Amino acid sequence: MLSASIVGASGYTGGELLRLLLDHPRLHVHQVTSRRYVGQYVYQVHPNLRKRTRLKFVTPDALEPVDVLFLALPHGEAQKHIARWADLATTIVDLSADFRLRDPAAYARWYGQPHAAPEWLERFVYGLPELHRDDLAGARYISGVGCNATATNLALWPALRAGLVDPERPVIAEIKVGSSEGGVTPNPGSHHPERANLVRTYAPLGHRHTAEVMQELGLSQVWLTMTSVDMVRGAMATVHAWVRPGVTEKDLWRAYRAAVQENPFLRLVKERRGVYRVPDPKILAGSNYADLGFALDPDSGHLVAMAAIDNLMKGAAGSALQSLNVALGWDETLGLEFPGLHPL
Ligand SMILES: NC(=O)c1ccc[n+]([C@@H]2O[C@H](COP(=O)([O-])OP(=O)(O)OC[C@H]3O[C@@H](n4cnc5c(N)ncnc54)[C@H](OP(=O)(O)O)[C@@H]3O)[C@@H](O)[C@H]2O)c1
Repeated sequence: MLSASIVGASGYTGGELLRLLLDHPRLHVHQVTSRRYVGQYVYQVHPNLRKRTRLKFVTPDALEPVDVLFLALPHGEAQKHIARWADLATTIVDLSADFRLRDPAAYARWYGQPHAAPEWLERFVYGLPELHRDDLAGARYISGVGCNATATNLALWPALRAGLVDPERPVIAEIKVGSSEGGVTPNPGSHHPERANLVRTYAPLGHRHTAEVMQELGLSQVWLTMTSVDMVRGAMATVHAWVRPGVTEKDLWRAYRAAVQENPFLRLVKERRGVYRVPDPKILAGSNYADLGFALDPDSGHLVAMAAIDNLMKGAAGSALQSLNVALGWDETLGLEFPGLHPL
């Protein structure tokens, strides 16, 4: 067993990580931090974990050396003290956006200020095994993924990898997201009367995850539009692109089938009948699957690529643990087998 601690464990991704780690056959949770709930049992904040652990929150100052340290902090916090975190553990997995971009200039452009530790950017491997399995093997520093970027990237990646997408045409992603994306701290927009029963496009253009899609898919003409919808968990990307002349639906079937065969957490959802004919985040709550789908208009070459994920799982804690499993040479599905619930 290796020891693991979580910094920021009172938050939504930290709590999800803790739920996963408590069932992991090769990891033992040593400490979890919260400044607000120090001394309290974790189940007082994460009630689903009652009777699963007697752990209490400690302050970040009380952290002891461990094998693996997960950082689940708000954006900008991990980079401030990365040398200190790295002194505490052999392996660091950071769920924030702090170490996702390789290029410090891109970071400054998209996040509006220079990175506090730019020399660390190239040490981190982007924590999406589907795209970086080889780089992750043996990695000591693993970045998290953006949930919206992950849905977009996984939707289009099989077609792009197979060379089916026309790189001269734009890629436009419409992403619908649930409220847990915003984290545990409330704001005026997350107040129930404002957040319930809504379809609110809060970022028509310019969302920061655009940078991750550009980096990971190697695209320059890509636009993301973000819309809040009335669910707690889930991100649904509907990506519009154009295929190269002559590409057929059969080519796309081959490309997507290959991707799901190679990757244990990718599934293809393309049915002629039934309610669930295309990906739907409703059935993915708590699961690490990314459900992919596509449709092609053969006349125009217009491709609609889709991906549904649970933002707290495949979009955060699930991919983080899957990446760690790969880094440590373990079966990448360890601790991640939960298939989700139906009905919900
Ligand atoms: N939510 C998502 O869907 C999602 C998906 C992908 C990635 N992410 C990323 O994952 C990270 C965590 O997201 P989240 O939604 O879990 O956030 P969150 O719910 O706001 O939780 C963050 C936790 O960090 C702790 N914290 C805040 N400032 C701290 C500091 N200076 N030092 C130590 N601890 C501090 C807080 O606990 P105390 O105040 O109790 O200490 C808080 O509970 C973010 O960077 C986010 O961008 C989130």
